[in-house]
Amino acid sequence: MASLLCSLILLMGSLFLSSAAEAPMYSLCNRERNYTDNSTYQANLASLISSLSSSAPATGFANGTAGEVPDRVYGLAICRGDVDANKCRDCLSRVIQDAAAGCPRNKGATIFYQLCHLRYSDQYFFGSSTGMELSTIVLKNVSDVPTFNRLLGGLLNNLTIRATLSERRFAAASVDFTNFEKIYAYVQCTKDLAPDSCNDCLRNEISAIPQCCNASNGARVFGGSCDIRYGVDPFYNAAAAADPPPPPSPPVPANTSPPPAGTPAEGATGRRDDGVNQDDSLQFGLETLKLATMNFCDQNKLGEGGFGVVYKGVLADGQLIAVKRLVTNSGQGISELKNEVALVAKLQHRNLVRLMGYCLQPQEKLLVYEYLPNKSLDKFLFDPFRSKELTWEMRVKIIEGISRGLLYLHEDSRLKIIHRDLKASNILLDEGMNPKIADFGLARLFGNEQSDGNTNQIAGTYGYMAPEYVMHGQISTKSDVYSFGVLLLEIMTGRRCAGYYGRNPPADLISYIWQHWEEGNAVQLIDKDIADGFSVEEALRRIHIGLLCVQHDPLERPIMSLVVLMLNSRSSLPAISPLSSFTEVSTSVNWGPGATSKPIGMPPMP
Ligand SMILES: *[C@@H]1O[C@H](CO)[C@@H](O)[C@H](O)[C@H]1NC(C)=O
Ligand SMILES: *[C@@H]1O[C@H](CO)[C@@H](O)[C@H](O)[C@H]1NC(C)=O
Ligand SMILES: *[C@@H]1O[C@H](CO)[C@@H](O)[C@H](O)[C@H]1NC(C)=O
Ligand SMILES: *[C@@H]1O[C@H](CO)[C@@H](O)[C@H](O)[C@H]1NC(C)=O
Ligand SMILES: *[C@@H]1O[C@H](CO)[C@@H](O)[C@H](O)[C@H]1NC(C)=O
Ligand SMILES: *[C@@H]1O[C@H](CO)[C@@H](O)[C@H](O)[C@H]1NC(C)=O
Ligand SMILES: *[C@@H]1O[C@H](CO)[C@@H](O)[C@H](O)[C@H]1NC(C)=O
Repeated sequence: MASLLCSLILLMGSLFLSSAAEAPMYSLCNRERNYTDNSTYQANLASLISSLSSSAPATGFANGTAGEVPDRVYGLAICRGDVDANKCRDCLSRVIQDAAAGCPRNKGATIFYQLCHLRYSDQYFFGSSTGMELSTIVLKNVSDVPTFNRLLGGLLNNLTIRATLSERRFAAASVDFTNFEKIYAYVQCTKDLAPDSCNDCLRNEISAIPQCCNASNGARVFGGSCDIRYGVDPFYNAAAAADPPPPPSPPVPANTSPPPAGTPAEGATGRRDDGVNQDDSLQFGLETLKLATMNFCDQNKLGEGGFGVVYKGVLADGQLIAVKRLVTNSGQGISELKNEVALVAKLQHRNLVRLMGYCLQPQEKLLVYEYLPNKSLDKFLFDPFRSKELTWEMRVKIIEGISRGLLYLHEDSRLKIIHRDLKASNILLDEGMNPKIADFGLARLFGNEQSDGNTNQIAGTYGYMAPEYVMHGQISTKSDVYSFGVLLLEIMTGRRCAGYYGRNPPADLISYIWQHWEEGNAVQLIDKDIADGFSVEEALRRIHIGLLCVQHDPLERPIMSLVVLMLNSRSSLPAISPLSSFTEVSTSVNWGPGATSKPIGMPPMP
C-alpha cells in the first residue's frame, strides 16, 4: 500500500482561486474493502464524520474512532492552518454531505477540499505517514525553470522545518521569484504525526515534485497525512499563516546579565519546542537539534574526539550550528550542569567560539555552538598544500587573536577559566580567518575536577601539556601559557609539537627549537610555507616569546597580559632561562604513535 500513486490532473487556475464553491476537490479511494448499505460500518462512519466535523473547527484538527472491531472506523478531520474556525466549520459541513459520494461504499478514503480534508479507514493509521497515496494537481508551465526550482526547493525545505517544529504542523511563506512574481507555498501535516513522521511525510512529497510537476508554476501534492501546495498567486491568509509570536520573555533572574546582543530570536530558531524548562533561554529542544542535524546522521559529522562527536546542523531560520553530542558520564546532576554551561555561555569574546545553548537531558547531552566554516587551524597548518594559504599576516592575526581570547579567559572574564586543552585543533577559523578558541570551560564542567590545584585525572593533549601538569597534575593559568607557547611555535615553524625532530638524539619540537635557538640557527626553523613579505626579526621575536612561554618553571612564564603586550610592542624581551630542562618532559611522556591526539579534552571542533 506504500504505492506512490502520482496522478497528474491538469486543471485551469480557476480551481485554486475559487473560494466560494467548495466542491470536493479530490478523493483518494481505497477500493480494497467495501461496506454495504445500512451496515453497522456505514452507521459508525456517519457518526464519526459528524463528531469529527463538529469538534475539529475549534483547533483545526480532530481524530477519533467509532464502533467496535470489525466495524470500527478510524478517522480524522483537518483544516488548513491559516483557516479560522468559521471557515473550517463551513468546509467540514461539506464533508458531511459529500463524503459518501466521494468514494461510494469504500471503507477507506481521503477526501480533499480546498481548505480541509477528511480521512477515514477501517484500519488504524494515526501517527503514521506510511501507506500514503499521493496525488498532484498541476497548473501551467513556468519560464525560468532552474531559478524557480532552486527557490521552490529552498522555500519548501524552510517550510518543512518550520512546520515540523510548530505545534500546528503548518507553515506558509513566500519568496520573490521575478520582480513581479512571488512563489507562495504552504506545507501541513495532520496533527497526529510526531515531528519525525511529519518530516518524513513532507520530504517524501517534496521528492515527488521534480517528477510530477517539474516546470509547473503551481501544484498541490496531497496524501492522507500531509499536504503541500505552491503557486505564484497568493492563496493563503498571510496574517493567519504567520507563526504565532514566541512566548513572552521570562523575567531575568537576579545576578545574571541579559542575553548578549546577537542571540538569535527564539521563535525563528525553533527553541523551546519541548516545552521543557520554559524559562531557560539557552535551552534547545531535542527535536530541534535532531532535525537540525538530520538525526545526527553521519554525513553531518564534523569531527570526533574523546568526549563525543560534533555535527553540523541547520536551524529552522537557516542558521548553521555545530552540535557537540557528549558521551560523558559526569556524575553531575542535570540542573547543576545547566548552571555551569550557562556560566560558560556568558563568556563572549570575538576570539572565543560562541556557545549558543544546550540540550541537557539524562540520556542526551548536547551543546550548541556557532558554526565556523573554515574548520580548525591544524587543518591548514599541518596540511602540506593548505599550509601555504596561511600567509604571514594571517599567522600574526591568528596568534594575536588566540592570545586575546586566552587573556580574556584568564584575566578579564568574571570566571577565571583555565582552558587545559589549548591546541591547534581547538582553534577554529571564521570566514575572515579570525581565530576562535573552542572548548573552553568544558574540562571544568566535565573533567570531574575542581578549579586550580592538583588533579589525578589528566585532561590535555600530550605535547601541549606543561611539565608540571604531566608529572604532578598541577594546572594553573601558567599551564595554559605553556600550551599557548607550543601553539605559537607550531604556527611559526609549521611543525607539529608531537613528533621527533633531529637525529642524535631525537628530540621533541621544543627541545629541537631550543637547540637551534642556542646555536643561533632558529631562522632555519621558520615555516618555509610562509611566503616572503615578513621580517625575519618579527618571526624570531615570536619564536622568542614562544620559548618564554614554554619555560620549565611556571613562575618564569609570562602571564597572558604580558604576552599580549610583548606581541604588540617592540620592547626588548627578557632572556630565556637555560632550557636543558625542556627534555625532561619528553623523557617522562610516552610518545606513542597516536600521541598527537591522545585523549583528552573535548573532541576537536571542525
Ligand atoms: C468496492 O466498490 C468499488 C466501486 O465503488 C469497486 O470498484 C470495487 O471493486 C469494490 N471492491 C471490492 C473489494 O469489492
Ligand atoms: C436501507 O434502509 C433504507 C431505509 O431505512 C431502505 O429504504 C433501504 O432499502 C435499505 N437498503 C438496503 C440495501 O437494505
Ligand atoms: C508544459 O510543458 C510540457 C512540455 O514541456 C507540455 O507537455 C505541457 O502540456 C505543458 N503544460 C501546460 C499546462 O502548458
Ligand atoms: C530559507 O530561510 C532562510 C533563513 O530564514 C532564508 O535566508 C532563505 O532566504 C529562505 N529561503 C527561501 C527560499 O525562502
Ligand atoms: C489520535 O491520534 C493519536 C496518535 O497521534 C492517538 O494516540 C489518539 O489515540 C488518537 N485519538 C483518538 C480519539 O483516537
Ligand atoms: C525539469 O525541466 C527542465 C526544463 O524544462 C529540465 O531542464 C530538467 O531536466 C527537468 N528536470 C527533471 C527532474 O525532469
Ligand atoms: C576560508 O579561508 C580562505 C582563505 O584560505 C578564504 O578565502 C575563505 O573566504 C574562507 N572562508 C571559507 C568559507 O572558506
